Amino acid sequence: MTSENNNAAEQPVRNILIFDTTLRDGEQSPGASMNLDEKLQVAQALVDLKVDIIEAGFPIASPGDFEAVREISRHVKGSTVCGLARCVDADIDAAWGSLKEAESPRIHVFLATSKIHRSFKLRMSQEEIIERAVVGVKRAKGYCDDVEFSPEDACRTEIDFLCRVVEAAIDAGATTVNIPDTVGYTTPAEMTTRIQTLFNRVPNIDKAVVSTHCHNDLGMAVANSLAAVVAGAGQIEVAINGLGERAGNCPLEEVVMALRTRRDFFHADTRIVSQRLVPASRVVTKVTGLMIPRNKAVVGRNAFAHESGVHQDGVLKERSTYEIMTPESVGFVKNDLVLGKHSGRAALADRIKSLGFELTKEQLDEAFAEFKRLADLKKDVFDADIVAIVDRQTSSGRLTGAAADWKYESYELTRSAQGKATVTAKLSQNGVEKTAVVSDGDGPVHSMFWAVQQIVGLHIRLEEYKVEAVSGGSDAQGEVVVRVKDVDSNVDYRGRATSTDVLEATLMAFVDASNRIQRANEKKSQ
Ligand code: KIV
Ligand code: ZN
Repeated sequence: MTSENNNAAEQPVRNILIFDTTLRDGEQSPGASMNLDEKLQVAQALVDLKVDIIEAGFPIASPGDFEAVREISRHVKGSTVCGLARCVDADIDAAWGSLKEAESPRIHVFLATSKIHRSFKLRMSQEEIIERAVVGVKRAKGYCDDVEFSPEDACRTEIDFLCRVVEAAIDAGATTVNIPDTVGYTTPAEMTTRIQTLFNRVPNIDKAVVSTHCHNDLGMAVANSLAAVVAGAGQIEVAINGLGERAGNCPLEEVVMALRTRRDFFHADTRIVSQRLVPASRVVTKVTGLMIPRNKAVVGRNAFAHESGVHQDGVLKERSTYEIMTPESVGFVKNDLVLGKHSGRAALADRIKSLGFELTKEQLDEAFAEFKRLADLKKDVFDADIVAIVDRQTSSGRLTGAAADWKYESYELTRSAQGKATVTAKLSQNGVEKTAVVSDGDGPVHSMFWAVQQIVGLHIRLEEYKVEAVSGGSDAQGEVVVRVKDVDSNVDYRGRATSTDVLEATLMAFVDASNRIQRANEKKSQ
């Protein structure tokens, strides 16, 4: 109990299903594309969280998407695996083809229903929309009992028509009807009314779970999702760190902790293991390279940092004065023990586990060797340093990534008496080393950027470059995050790396970004 309100008399608590779309809508975030290994890492984090339904992808979109949904279907136990499809035969057939080995498969079909989408995008009448939706749901139902139907842009759809579409979809066999706020336009009060109206006016509504899927364009995705729950929705669609199209989807961690912390108000909860929220957030940050703000609710680095003297005094006397939930409850690990050069392999393994990571024996061996090297350079090795080491062991291209990924080998920097910097960078691909020497850059970072371009043969432009210390102290490791534009496709990609040497981290971050571009190009050409 961390809040006075939680002392309110317990009332029956409804279980709300959590449908996670990090791997589908989340992957549609610019720069968030993931390779198969990365998708499997995210899927594992979702299983650890006990997410009810994992939307693993849009199988018709590309052979890579199909393959990813199929692999996730084979691996995942304990959660339903879902694939997205338009109300088109080929989409639904592909979805089933990729899902059929899942322990618990779901096909999710969608069709836009709002007047704007009907007139400008689909050029279809209301009757044609209903007919197409029914045909789509029935085809999916022929494959699988568990079928979800989404009237895309539902929150801008005329309510009478929405009621008709939902009724027809349920009659055709939909077991979940999802009400998406596709463009993040609705408000909490409107959402409550819309869901209540469906409950009041759709005669067969009790035969399906009512769901919502809120985008965050006006920053209301969490509030709108909670408003749907208040009105009786039984499923919320979310993404880790709020990833998703444009401003993203409803962040899983925020809506789950809102329900748990205010169970007294919502009389609803989920089966999510909240202690896995921070580890899951870290996995998604690592594989996408999309960093979260320090003050991000629930999982941000500062989410539990009390700065002002008054607050610190209050927390020291009684945590609940300023803490409505504990850092431990969301997976921040409190470690009084800082590791150092005398710490052994078992202590490191234990710390890695408590931070939420699982390494293979081979990865742990490498992590331990790197930990020892780091402990020689730094007096104290903090949790943030260990997360950075684990990142390097599990990041793609190292042990599990695509074979064609470039790997950083080494660099040298020399300065002439006139102050001119020359960078010699060495990278390898499939074990073959390549070296570039650049001395006409505008300083070492610029020269490194050119060196990487020369070796990997991509035409990229540097858009953003950030360096940050991962922990305290003057011997802290530096984390470099870069955003580069692939000039040929005009798409932005991120790269991230850490090292005690920020120039080395810089070069590694450029390599990371280049690998992401290369993988995305491969995916497009499949
Ligand atoms: O935002 C949206 O409407 C969607 C649907 C496919 C559910 O992502
Ligand atoms: Zn969406």
